[in-house]
Amino acid sequence: MEIIITKNYEEVSKKAADIYKEHMEKQPQTVLGFATGSTPLGMYEWLIKYHEAGLDFSKVTTFNLDEYIGLAGDHPASYRYFMEEHLFGKVNVPKGSIHVPNGMAENPDEECQAYEERIRKAGGIDLQVLGIGINGHIGFNEPGTPFNTLTHVAELTESTREANARFFSSMDEVPTHAISMGIKSIMHARRIILLANGEHKAEAVAAAVKGPITPELPASVLQLHPNVQFIIDEAAGRLL
Ligand code: GLP
Repeated sequence: MEIIITKNYEEVSKKAADIYKEHMEKQPQTVLGFATGSTPLGMYEWLIKYHEAGLDFSKVTTFNLDEYIGLAGDHPASYRYFMEEHLFGKVNVPKGSIHVPNGMAENPDEECQAYEERIRKAGGIDLQVLGIGINGHIGFNEPGTPFNTLTHVAELTESTREANARFFSSMDEVPTHAISMGIKSIMHARRIILLANGEHKAEAVAAAVKGPITPELPASVLQLHPNVQFIIDEAAGRLL
């Protein structure tokens, strides 16, 4: 695990975008993992700028970490919508190469299995970006999720629902469940970068980096991954 501490959010975003850009230039036909939440937004802005300057997404396949159950892709708080708004609608990834779990699937368990199979058929994820929840969750793998979990239906904790309530008009509208790539699915990615900024992430980051490796702090599993970098700002690195 490599820890890169930058001055601020802007530098976290630029560094992360540069890693994606360099990877895509070396390997244009690649499988990229994307994440939602506010953390990767700055990175996506840079990737759009790089695309405008020539970075090609035409041979890329993408997989997103998660999606709320019960939200269709045209719901403004769905992760499919978020990705369209902030990245996919502004770069040239072929629509058929974009994968986000279907939160409206009639049978969510089948959708989970099918999603995992799609990742496998694509050859696995080459480069995955992650954020981190204040309770140490990655994707929607909440504390207590076993490390051998593949894509699954996850129940959201109250703290995660509260943290994400800002994207909804009321707390009642925040979904209680999501489809999420599992810890094992994430650990299969060949390279992982985890981004974090701000004081409110400092405890989760410190526990993930220095704490015991435990399902109670899902991001701590990354200590076992052979190719992972934490790119964080000084505030998020305050306790390291
Ligand atoms: C959500 C997402 C996670 C994300 C987390 C942190 O729960 N499922 O993938 O890492 O929020 O979000 P933010 O980056 O807004 O702090």
